[in-house]
Amino acid sequence: MARPGRGGPPDRAFPGEHIRDSLETSLRASGDHFDVVQFHVWSDERAGRGEWLETVQDLKREGKIRLFGVSVNDHEPDNAVRLVRSGTVDTIQVIYTIFDQAPAGTLLPACAEHGVGVIARVALDEGGLTGRITAGSAFPEGDFRNRCFRDDRPAQVERRVAAICADLGIGADDMAETALRFVLSHPAVSTVIPGMRSVRNVERNTALSDGRPLTDEQLATLAGHRWQRNFYG
Ligand SMILES: NC(=O)c1ccc[n+]([C@@H]2O[C@H](COP(=O)([O-])OP(=O)(O)OC[C@H]3O[C@@H](n4cnc5c(N)ncnc54)[C@H](OP(=O)(O)O)[C@@H]3O)[C@@H](O)[C@H]2O)c1
Repeated sequence: MARPGRGGPPDRAFPGEHIRDSLETSLRASGDHFDVVQFHVWSDERAGRGEWLETVQDLKREGKIRLFGVSVNDHEPDNAVRLVRSGTVDTIQVIYTIFDQAPAGTLLPACAEHGVGVIARVALDEGGLTGRITAGSAFPEGDFRNRCFRDDRPAQVERRVAAICADLGIGADDMAETALRFVLSHPAVSTVIPGMRSVRNVERNTALSDGRPLTDEQLATLAGHRWQRNFYG
């Protein structure tokens, strides 16, 4: 079946039978249950209606899934607020970064109020918040980051990261840690899922699960470093 579109009736986007078939196919390869299952796209017009609601409840009752949520479309945090308030999801996955702080406006407070867990994705801005993207950065042909860092974006990223480092009095090597701690400092955020290909990054990132948030002063400084742009488009 095709990937669900951004809009349209809920039963066309997420037919109950398809959810069940797809989950059972995945379970055959993985085990007897999943801790968390998420839709990959969402549109808030589907909140509170559709056969997906009953199917998800059935799968929970059968013990095949424990928690259910949605991954919010890129840079559209408010497009899941109604869903969160409907009480029908356990988790939300959302882009939340030093650059894209929009979720802190309405979505994250709603999640806190309704006990919905928050999984923050792309907290390192696909590498933009690691201190490693510079004006001369280039990626292999076919690499999706050519879209994220198109035109003069690498130079813009370099300038913005340099400004963050100067304001916080940190070095570029501290940028990744600061970007992850920024996200984890929000009380509504349950976890962050940085992408990692090296053991070194896994070790460095897991070491940040020490419960130490940034200071209020650091957070106030970072509030001035928002950068609203269509990152992937
Ligand atoms: N719609 C969706 O649901 C959706 C869309 C996009 C992504 N995601 C999820 O979000 C997760 C994160 O996304 P992402 O990996 O694309 O972006 P990301 O976490 O913002 O950035 C990953 C980049 O940061 C680098 N990195 C990680 N830790 C670092 C450290 N300590 N120091 C320096 N560099 C570091 C990685 O390098 P190395 O690779 O070299 O370690 C990689 O280049 C993924 O696991 C994916 O499952 C979901």
